[in-house]
Amino acid sequence: MARIDVNSPVPKYYQLKEILRDMIETKKLGAGQVIPPERELCERYGVSRMTARQAVIELVNEGLLYRVQGRGTFVAEAKLRQGTGRLTSFTQDMQERGMQVSSVVLGIEVEEAGPVVARMLRIDPGDRIIRVRRVRNADGKPMALETSHLLYEVAKGILEVDLSEHSLYEQLGRMGVRIASAEQSYEAVLVNDFESGHLGVPAGSPAMLIERITFDSEERPFEYVKSVYRADRYRITTRLES
Ligand code: GLP
Repeated sequence: MARIDVNSPVPKYYQLKEILRDMIETKKLGAGQVIPPERELCERYGVSRMTARQAVIELVNEGLLYRVQGRGTFVAEAKLRQGTGRLTSFTQDMQERGMQVSSVVLGIEVEEAGPVVARMLRIDPGDRIIRVRRVRNADGKPMALETSHLLYEVAKGILEVDLSEHSLYEQLGRMGVRIASAEQSYEAVLVNDFESGHLGVPAGSPAMLIERITFDSEERPFEYVKSVYRADRYRITTRLES
């Protein structure tokens, strides 16, 4: 059995975490299996309660374990970790790339949903939506042209907000919308005349169309967005694990 090395400069909680991770990855602890309770981990590895707790909490935060109240801590399905990225806003995405965000609002209107938008948002054609069109700049230069369609009832508060200054997601969050998940697709496209003017690249330049449907914590879609990103400026990197 792996042991904690008390003479190692590596913190004990971290060593325990690595031991547990190894057991999960080598399937000694299988998906759905309950892990030993804290007190047992303490006895087995000669660590304090706090140390055991910290190791477990970190593995929960990383998605390798999950807790069920009153029943214990279980090993998560490895599949759940695959292909799941973090749901970020444009503002967060750019900030993480170390870039300065700004936006130009081209229009914000209350409209009736057409058939496509209605299908995406699971409403009836003709129901009210809000359409926001923005040029999203990074370091002062256009990065993307973004058209968001939002459920009127959920997002009407943003009609009062200056979206050239504020993040849409941050504002929706303040209004109580719990942004929980999204489905996103990527497609290669060529910039058309309209987009060309706003993105500052010649028509026919390559671009990436990203479409997103965003769901709240009740799995209700509240946003359908089409974003056209300049291919010369935007790159997506994902981490894949076997
Ligand atoms: C990304 C998403 C959009 C979302 C936007 C919000 O660009 N593709 O679906 O509307 O972020 O960005 P922000 O909160 O910066 O306004």
